[in-house]
Amino acid sequence: MKNKRLKHYDKDPNSRYCGSLFKKKPVSRYARSLNAAAISVVLLAFALVSSAHGQEAAEFFRKNCTSCHWIGGGRLIGPDLKNVTSRKDRDWLVRFILDPKAMFDARDPYALKLKAEAKGVMMVKVPGINAKMANALLDLIEAESRLDSSQFAGKAAAVITYTKEDIDAGRKIFSGKTKLKNNGRACISCHTVNTSGGSLGGRLGPELTTVFTRLQGHNALTAWLSAPPTPTMRSVFQARPLEEDEIKSLVAYFESAGSETGYNYDTFIVWMSVILCGLGGSVVGMVLFSGIWGNRFRAVRRPLVKVSKLRGTS
Ligand code: HEC
Ligand code: HEC
Repeated sequence: MKNKRLKHYDKDPNSRYCGSLFKKKPVSRYARSLNAAAISVVLLAFALVSSAHGQEAAEFFRKNCTSCHWIGGGRLIGPDLKNVTSRKDRDWLVRFILDPKAMFDARDPYALKLKAEAKGVMMVKVPGINAKMANALLDLIEAESRLDSSQFAGKAAAVITYTKEDIDAGRKIFSGKTKLKNNGRACISCHTVNTSGGSLGGRLGPELTTVFTRLQGHNALTAWLSAPPTPTMRSVFQARPLEEDEIKSLVAYFESAGSETGYNYDTFIVWMSVILCGLGGSVVGMVLFSGIWGNRFRAVRRPLVKVSKLRGTS
């Protein structure tokens, strides 16, 4: 077999060199396998490094981006990022991810269009991001976009109907009557919802009555609360995350608080109590007044009548 091959090479006028190489085979084979080994070590190292990079980016994406974006699952608070790198050039995307606010301030038309589609919600600059990570994230998004189903596609909820129990559970969590499982601070210490009784509740955070529509419904609000992306909320809940069932109840509560019926129901109760208190108050008042003043009134009128009668007869 070997000899045949050698012969073959030897027959070829150009194969002297090859032939001689083959003759030095023992050394050359050793060298070649050494080379191959070296190459595969380098390749392996490269693969390891790049997959470590990929993993780092995936981890970063999961922590910092999935509260607002899916890849292939539809829109959340921000647009679906599937194929985003073919919608807009990379340079722009990196600049935007590094400092979204600067793009809005510069009145970049594409950024403003995205903002309008997001109903005015602005992407926040994610802490710890740099150009290298932004590029790694875009690589990740590109790779995930090619898959049939990305690990970041999220799961859009089917039509959700909340029960009254969900809403009540949410109301209790919001007001702190039910303690948060991971010991996070009660929402009411920083937030109000119209239905939680007007001025009761903290003022540090925004009013949350219409947050269900403001943060675009079930999927988006659920994702938002799973990893709140804003500075204060992040610092409060990063180490003490809300549990899945707590989030479900809270979202149910916010939906009912923002919807006509939920709102009207609670306002109705408030107004009814005002009116009833008012009615009750006037009844009590009337009884009291008639008790106190009734006699005086008569005491004024009777003598007058008497006097006029006396005058009339005289
Ligand atoms: C608080 C929610 C939020 C977070 C967190 C967030 N984004 Fe965004 N993102 C948005 C919104 C909203 C838009 C649309 C523009 C706007 O209104 O700010 C957007 C737009 C984008 C765009 C442009 C999309 C397009 O269609 O051209 C990219 C790319 C992007 N985000 C990447 C990221 C990455 C990567 C992260 C994580 C590091 C991230 N975003 C975190 C809300 C968010
Ligand atoms: C320590 C105070 C504090 C607590 C406790 C707190 N929040 Fe917040 N929250 C804030 C602040 C401040 C903001 C404004 C954004 C930011 O800086 O994080 C905010 C923003 C929000 C938003 C976004 C509102 C919007 O219109 O963009 C939601 C939703 C929200 N909080 C829900 C909750 C829920 C639910 C709880 C209870 C489980 C809670 N918060 C507990 C301070 C708090």
